Amino acid sequence: MTRNAIILAAGMGSRMKSKLYKVLQPVAGKAMVDHVLTQIEATNINHVVTVIGHGADAVKNLLGTRTEYALQAEQLGTGHAVLQAENLLQQYTGTTLIVSGDTPMFTADTFNQLYAEHEQAGNAVTVLTSIAPNPFGYGRIVRDDAGNVAKIVEQKDATAAEQAIDEINTGVFVFDNKLLFEALNKVTNDNAQGEYYLPDTLEILKADGHTVGAFVMADFTEGMGVNDRVALAEANKAMRLRINEQHMRNGVTLIDPESTYIESDVVIGNDTTIEPNVYLKGNTVIGSDVYISSGSTVIDSTIEDNVKITSSQIEESIMHTGSNCGPFAHLRPQSEIGVNVHIGNFVETKKVVIGAGTKVGHLTYVGDATLGQNINIGAGTIFVNYDGVNKFKTTVGDSSFIGSNTKIIAPVNIGKQSITAAGSTITEDIPDNAMGIARARQTNKEDFWERTPQGKKTKGNK
Ligand code: UD1
Ligand code: CA
Repeated sequence: MTRNAIILAAGMGSRMKSKLYKVLQPVAGKAMVDHVLTQIEATNINHVVTVIGHGADAVKNLLGTRTEYALQAEQLGTGHAVLQAENLLQQYTGTTLIVSGDTPMFTADTFNQLYAEHEQAGNAVTVLTSIAPNPFGYGRIVRDDAGNVAKIVEQKDATAAEQAIDEINTGVFVFDNKLLFEALNKVTNDNAQGEYYLPDTLEILKADGHTVGAFVMADFTEGMGVNDRVALAEANKAMRLRINEQHMRNGVTLIDPESTYIESDVVIGNDTTIEPNVYLKGNTVIGSDVYISSGSTVIDSTIEDNVKITSSQIEESIMHTGSNCGPFAHLRPQSEIGVNVHIGNFVETKKVVIGAGTKVGHLTYVGDATLGQNINIGAGTIFVNYDGVNKFKTTVGDSSFIGSNTKIIAPVNIGKQSITAAGSTITEDIPDNAMGIARARQTNKEDFWERTPQGKKTKGNK
């Protein structure tokens, strides 16, 4: 007995009005179809086939070898879509789970419950249903007088009485695999949309004397189908609350979980506190006892324990233990911020390694540089690393003191315990323990005021 799964992901998703194919629309930073596959992977399934059509290459690029693929060249309906997997799956004796690529909220737990119900009831097919607060747009579950499932009617084919039904088809089914393809070959497109409907297989199997069942899911939220941007926002909200609840249960303090935006794959340690309006994206890992204040965005970065991030943007970077940044710092890709380093306000870094205890306090740009430990970088220092074509490197040794408003025109190597005089434009290396000074000497012009237009006007009243 094998367990198969089919994900339907060939549709265009015209109601999205998007250049991006529907199943690739992100929910909490992850494509909807990826959410579906991730949950299927967490169940005990042997073969997964994804039916692709619109955006086939993009879906394949995203999911890679995690699934097999069947191509649906023309989108003739969900029944027709499933039929494209026949060649890959027809030989198996067992069951087949079918899920739409636009229902991102389902959990592996629910799939397992549906399986259990299906196997226990010995059905030919079991459909996962739910009571929808607003059933408009969904297929309705029509039951006979005895309460058994008779058929599923699509919105556009439903009579007024059927439209009043609030039990809906979530688009998730478990079928006996052989009976699935047998029934699909009997489905016609004689309906309002001229499509081959997968749900029509229930009536067909029933007419052939097989048992057809339904499993009613308690919480509708999981069954949410995302056809347009309104539903996309609802799904994002529901997913956000689910993710945030999980982090809170794991010991993370979220001041306002409604307005904290944490993508699916982010990891956070306990006793970390996150203020509202923080975005944590991509493959971000955050340690324990971290504090992230309002207005911060962290993308694909590693933040170690005891770090403090104040209203800053961090991309593809690493902040080691006890370091801090902001307010209004911008750590651009490949910034490695050492232990206990301080990055202050209006500081931008790019492709740097900054050693432990170093301070870059104010209004500074550090790019293409390796900084040692316990260095002080004065306000307004610019690492001049780019000539418009090439980038050049700077190194600064331990315990050096870079005076305020120094321009370091790379490539330059500054030694240990070296100093630059404030306002210098440094173009050459500075040895250890030396001071580099490179600025014009000051001269004072006496009695200059009376030579200015203002001075001339007020001549006499010195
Ligand atoms: C479908 C169901 C409806 C159910 C709802 C649940 C049918 C006919 N209707 O309606 O009963 O309540 O889902 O969310 O099954 N797809 C293909 N190829 C096609 C057509 C669709 O791969 O030819 C894929 C789409 O990419 C999508 C999924 O199948 O991921 C569902 O299609 P969609 O058009 O969204 O169906 P709904 O109208 O939502
Ligand atoms: Ca849909």
